[in-house]
Amino acid sequence: MTDPGERLRSSLAADQGVGAEFDSPIAMEAMRATRVLHAADQEPLPAPGRIRVVTIANQKGGVGKTTSTVNLGVALAMYGLRTLVIDLDPQGNTSTALGVEHTVGTPSIYDALVGDNTLAEVTHPTTASPNLLCVPATIDLAGAEIELVSVVAREHRLRRSIEAYLHELPAEERPHYVLIDCPPSLGLLTLNALVAGDEVLIPIQCEYYALEGLGQLLSNIDLVRAHLNPGISVSTILLTMYDGRTKLADQVADEVRNHFGDLVLTAVIPRNVRVSEAPGYGQSVLTYDPGSRGSTSYVEAAREFAHRGVALPPAAAPSKAPPPPPVAAPPAPPSVAAMVLGQPVASPGPRGRHAT
Ligand SMILES: Nc1ncnc2c1ncn2[C@@H]1O[C@H](COP(=O)(O)OP(=O)(O)O)[C@@H](O)[C@H]1O
Ligand SMILES: [Mg+2]
Repeated sequence: MTDPGERLRSSLAADQGVGAEFDSPIAMEAMRATRVLHAADQEPLPAPGRIRVVTIANQKGGVGKTTSTVNLGVALAMYGLRTLVIDLDPQGNTSTALGVEHTVGTPSIYDALVGDNTLAEVTHPTTASPNLLCVPATIDLAGAEIELVSVVAREHRLRRSIEAYLHELPAEERPHYVLIDCPPSLGLLTLNALVAGDEVLIPIQCEYYALEGLGQLLSNIDLVRAHLNPGISVSTILLTMYDGRTKLADQVADEVRNHFGDLVLTAVIPRNVRVSEAPGYGQSVLTYDPGSRGSTSYVEAAREFAHRGVALPPAAAPSKAPPPPPVAAPPAPPSVAAMVLGQPVASPGPRGRHAT
């Protein structure tokens, strides 16, 4: 596999019709930074054929779900596409990286999932781009896995919220992209995200054991498709934390490409210290160090991802149609959540008459 930075350097140089004057690393980095920072003026990304609701999932922790959600979200927004990022992980790392307040009491995704707030009421602006909005997660969300058990149509809560939100907005304000960052588990929160999404993006870390547990995620997606959301499928695999100095990274990347074929983006995210530093400053790597390899590789990935979305057929009625009334939800067959979650759902206690 070619080194992603190398590939990028040659493509940038070719694009610009420049050669020798950008040979020095500093000049090259400065040029990359300029291109990222003036992204939208130079080459806005194409809008997708329909609103793309993308669930970023992998039940393994530390594979780059949050980092990819944040940086793809910022890249799409900086390049002109309206993007809503939903933080569905109680740790709230996505909210942190986007500089969005998420202390207890901040209106958050918990209030939309478990409470009665609309998504619009819990959506916050970000400093990264006027095109980028964020629904933060507070630590309250940790209780949602249990609290949701007794809620009617509990697997559909997020989908309903998103549908209602999109329906309320005038067309020119609707996001082109809704990115949902999942927690590292296959519980009710991830299930909500799989029911809400049209497609799944799976980040895979270029490390040993990268594929471990992926079978379980894929079979859960199959179950969700069969019983709860016929529209969901894996559309994209993103290789993250690629370390070109190791043979292992290449082996894992090759294995993933052999297995998933065209689903795997050509762009690969290298392991880059600037990527891991950025959240500490409440920033994405694109704003923290726009000329870094981490930044440009996320731009490259976002570009590829966006171009793949252009050919999508316009949405069938659901996302534009009036949202169904809350209780009209097709009640999930009693055992589906248990099946998908791989275990019996805990008894909800006295409030349980609505459960299952
Ligand atoms: N490309 C990268 N280079 C260096 N560090 C990275 C990169 N991507 C993610 N990280 C770091 O790895 C850790 C796990 O990433 P994260 O996105 O939080 O994973 P997940 O959301 O899947 O648990 C974080 O500390 C993050 O800063
Ligand atoms: Mg995360």
